[in-house]
Amino acid sequence: MDTKPGHTKCEKLIRWVEEIAKLTQPNAVHWCDGSQKEYDELCDLMVKHGTFIKLNEKLRPNSYLARSHPSDVARVEDRTFICSESKADAGPTNNWADPAQMRAELRELFKGCMAGRTMYVIPFCMGPMDSPIAKVGIEITDSPYVVANMRIMTRMGQAVLDKLDGTGEFIPCVHSVGAPLKPGQADVPWPCEPEVPRKHIVHFPSDRSIWSYGSGYGGNALLGKKCLALRIASIAARAEGWMAEHMLILCLTSPEGKKHYMCAAFPSACGKTNLAMMQPTLPGWKLTCLGDDIAWLRIGRDGRLYAMNPETGFFGVAPGTSEKTNPNALATAARNSIFTNVVLTPENDIWWEDMGRPAPAKGIDWQGQEWTPDCGRKGAHPNSRFTAPASQCPVIDPDWENPRGVPISAFIFGGRRASTIPLVYEGFSWEHGVFMGSAAGSETTAAAIGLAAGVRRDPMAMLPFCGYHMGDYFAHWLSFAQRTDRSKLPKVFFANWFRKSADGKWLWPGFGENSRVLKWICERIDGTGKAVKTPIGWLPTPDALDTNGLKVSRPELAELLSVDVEGWKKEADDVAENYAKFGDRLPKAMADELKALRQRLGGS
Ligand code: GTP
Ligand code: SPV
Ligand code: MN
Repeated sequence: MDTKPGHTKCEKLIRWVEEIAKLTQPNAVHWCDGSQKEYDELCDLMVKHGTFIKLNEKLRPNSYLARSHPSDVARVEDRTFICSESKADAGPTNNWADPAQMRAELRELFKGCMAGRTMYVIPFCMGPMDSPIAKVGIEITDSPYVVANMRIMTRMGQAVLDKLDGTGEFIPCVHSVGAPLKPGQADVPWPCEPEVPRKHIVHFPSDRSIWSYGSGYGGNALLGKKCLALRIASIAARAEGWMAEHMLILCLTSPEGKKHYMCAAFPSACGKTNLAMMQPTLPGWKLTCLGDDIAWLRIGRDGRLYAMNPETGFFGVAPGTSEKTNPNALATAARNSIFTNVVLTPENDIWWEDMGRPAPAKGIDWQGQEWTPDCGRKGAHPNSRFTAPASQCPVIDPDWENPRGVPISAFIFGGRRASTIPLVYEGFSWEHGVFMGSAAGSETTAAAIGLAAGVRRDPMAMLPFCGYHMGDYFAHWLSFAQRTDRSKLPKVFFANWFRKSADGKWLWPGFGENSRVLKWICERIDGTGKAVKTPIGWLPTPDALDTNGLKVSRPELAELLSVDVEGWKKEADDVAENYAKFGDRLPKAMADELKALRQRLGGS
């Protein structure tokens, strides 16, 4: 077995890698250096094994298509565990398992699970290497697909090992596709454990370790992302006084050149990537992108909250991404990208539904079957994704790798709601804003397997990602009013691009037109935006939104900006029902906010 320990002097790391190799029994151990040469060789190897299809070099340079196993297409929330010492600390929204029992279960699952495969050691850093809140992780995986994706999504390779030599501190992440090979057994293009109950995505808060078994897809397998940068980071953030959030980071610059940095938390597949790199339709307004999925925030020396993107790539939803809706995402994924579960065209390029390009007359769908536009099946899986380097985004912000982050003026919460929730409104105070986030709900999407259709409460878009008790998480949010001068905290807004008319059409055109909402938010921050006080918060007055050139009728706009009092009473009931789960860990301020909302709505 090749166990050459890369170029590291970190004894702790070398010993840990040896221990995992002993448990999982790989054929070989490969320490990743993160070089282009290594990446190219791995991609070639995956092409040879059928995991990757090389795309047309002229149309899509240095890019590949992968097709997953049909059982392995998204995150698996009911197989995701927080194994805190006490069940109460995981809270009612997380799956909990006894840590000792889970460790024993994992030991059995991982025993010999890498047989016949190469074990890769991926040193990676979430956050710029020189940032004071960057975190180093080491992911051990038997999936070269994971290695290639991690190289796009994180700062990965030898430089991280060098950083580690100094501190010896890293977050251990162990991943296996859970498909050992017997001697002579042929491999498949996408190895995984197809039995859902055997899949495990496990977090141990006590030693901050992560164990993932059985899936090779997205957040299940790229452990720097949801597992480390959200679940484990949220635990660290609470202990250390900062925030790890499921948020995009953007900068909007006014025609006068004034910059406003904002963070927005929308649930999975609810519009973060699209808003993060949107092209404003309003003349003179410029948007630049700092991140599309995760923000780490901390209070800076001046008392303001600064946000930093721990990632270096976008793992974006493919379907719906078009020249019209998100040209910057298409440009970002024009080269050096990986596509998973989309259609292969006869030219060896990719296609997906609502790409704004004619469908190929005949293609190969995400399951590897022949596909025609009229065959009655979707060509791309609804949770198909592109993995693309953030540095290739045409509107990447010059400060996106600033280790200090950027000062945030607004938080925007949101969700996918066909009714009740207006286009935009603003909270009355920090506490009310935290309440708005805690009360967020959204229709479920294809980003996770097995969710019932309909609206579910998804506080701060963190329901699947908060690593501890959600009631304590609300308390942590509230605590920021004591950690700094509250006037320096971001203003809090709520947005909903997904309101539908009675006949089921989007009432709001969305995408670039969302710049009109962002402009109003800037004006509210600057103290010039006009608003009317309603029971749910401040709403734009009918003339406050810039509607110049907007093709939305007056009555439609009125509906988008109306408060449906009866609908909101039901909303409040649903929030109350959700709050009841948190018992005495629900901060009093949140119960007070709910009560005040109900009173303003004219109820009990
Ligand atoms: P994750 O990567 O899963 O966290 O998702 P995300 O929040 O980044 O979602 P994304 O921006 O990829 O959007 C998902 C889907 O919502 C896509 O199909 C988009 O086309 C659609 N979408 C995004 N923004 C808008 C909008 O303003 N209006 C409408 N109608 N659809 C939108
Ligand atoms: C999400 O589901 O919120 C994602 C995709 O961003 S994944 O990385 O698979 O979690
Ligand atoms: Mn996400």
